[in-house]
Amino acid sequence: MTSNHSLHWWQRATVYQIYPRSFQDSDGDGVGDLRGIIRRLDYLNDGTPDSLGVDAIWLCPFYRSPMADFGYDVADYRDVDPLFGTLDDFDELLAGAHERGIKVIIDWVPNHSSNRHPWFEESRSSKDNPKRHWYVWADPSREGGPPNNWRSAFTREGAAWTLDETTGQYYLHSFLAAQPDLNWDNPEVEAAMHDVLRFWLDRGVDGFRMDVVHKIGKDPFLRDNPRDRDEAFIKSTAMRHDEDWPSVHERLRRIRQVLEEYDGERAGVGEVYLLNQRRLVEYVNSTRQLHLAHNFAFLHQPWEAGAFHQAIREFQSLSTPGAWAAWFLENHDHDRIPTRYGGGDPEGIGRRRARVAALLLMTLRGTPFIYQGGELGLPNSPIPADRVVDVDGRDPVRTPMPWEPPGANGVTAAAGFSAGKPWLPLDPRAEELAVSRQREDPDSVLNLYRRLIRLRREEPVLQTGDILLLEGTEGLLMYLRSLEHRRFLVLLNFTSEEVEFRGHEVHVTGRGHRSMPLGLPTTLWTGTGTVRAATDLALDDEVVDTRLLRIGPDAGLIIELDRS
Ligand code: GLC
Repeated sequence: MTSNHSLHWWQRATVYQIYPRSFQDSDGDGVGDLRGIIRRLDYLNDGTPDSLGVDAIWLCPFYRSPMADFGYDVADYRDVDPLFGTLDDFDELLAGAHERGIKVIIDWVPNHSSNRHPWFEESRSSKDNPKRHWYVWADPSREGGPPNNWRSAFTREGAAWTLDETTGQYYLHSFLAAQPDLNWDNPEVEAAMHDVLRFWLDRGVDGFRMDVVHKIGKDPFLRDNPRDRDEAFIKSTAMRHDEDWPSVHERLRRIRQVLEEYDGERAGVGEVYLLNQRRLVEYVNSTRQLHLAHNFAFLHQPWEAGAFHQAIREFQSLSTPGAWAAWFLENHDHDRIPTRYGGGDPEGIGRRRARVAALLLMTLRGTPFIYQGGELGLPNSPIPADRVVDVDGRDPVRTPMPWEPPGANGVTAAAGFSAGKPWLPLDPRAEELAVSRQREDPDSVLNLYRRLIRLRREEPVLQTGDILLLEGTEGLLMYLRSLEHRRFLVLLNFTSEEVEFRGHEVHVTGRGHRSMPLGLPTTLWTGTGTVRAATDLALDDEVVDTRLLRIGPDAGLIIELDRS
């Protein structure tokens, strides 16, 4: 059994994702910035139980960029875009975070740059430019048209190729035409991108979230994808040629070596957007590649206890003992939990399920990631047609944080986010959902998150403890976390009906598909336990009988079992 002390910071941490454009504006231009984040560091963790209490932040891109994809199109990997501030602001932010014990992970976008990056401007200028092979260029196919059938990840974009008139060749872009793919088969590109890592490691960052990092290995022969690429890929019957190519793994090993040139455990967190967990674990199983990889299979589960049970079990059975999970249910690209799981009622069922999801994220074995606003239970925000700015429909999950009820204490209509007109409209429910309002409401989603983050931080059993998935009650996701003599039972009701839990009828899921009765002394199961946290905060500290427990609709409990 691993003791808590041997856990690495990136295993113990609760990570909070900041989308800088929408977190806090400090200069009134309507766009969030680094100085705004500095101002809100105390909200994240001021060392007292009043703050959220997170241990690390992941900052989405703040680099120089034409903002065609809101910063994921980088024109200078070594500078801050003036919209967000300066390198000095970044250094101050880093120091301020570190003073508060907050680690800082920054986004690194290795697969593509902006088409306005000087590298690409050179590359496209002629076929014999020294930077020509820094990007992926190819002649039209024999019939004319794009070199192969690869598609952009943005449906609206269509083909992943754009013809460049200057040289009559196509260049590859897995996303927008304004985001040409770098050619990782070229060692010069790899070296240059390693130097980008070193630039920020030298400044003191604690790690990187590596944007679509499974795409830095592609078929060098640019062969077609299987026609039914997504379906084939999910079933793992065929390989895609435009990502997750075997070469990605040696490249990740070399990236890991760069991280290890530095002390203090600098972490690599991959956005490995693969829905097949067998492929996902290849990125973390050896412990020589990524430290963590976001689990998108988990995020894509329907709101069913059985589906989550299956996804968690699959990760467990495929991963090696040294591998560590990264769990999340929201980010800047996906629908907010209350909207996705609310069955058309984000403010009712959706918000209740967001509380269940909070218990789930904060009690699994693995590192939880919370996306800004998730701690407020924000739903997707409506965006009027004339305010739409994103190419891929993601504006509703990127609207500004509501800090204060609009109109309160002289605060402008931008709910404390900005003194100017926000780049995206605030949610009309900002009044009710604002941080200051939720702070005062003892039963708010924010207070639930604060409670859970603290519990996880104080209880090694929730960090490093073993996890045993239980089965036997339809509609309940159940597991036991245990460390030495401590046992935490987590019961999450995924249905909107009351469910009865009978401790003695519960089974443990073994590896493979066998299940067996829970091998703990019966006394433990017939005895009592104490609620350590629950979706209903009023239940904290209540003593319960685990022989027969009623779990309310869309509710969850974390119970510490009494020692027998
Ligand atoms: C990742 C980012 C997304 C971006 C894309 C291209 O998926 O999370 O926001 O559009 O990569 O960089």
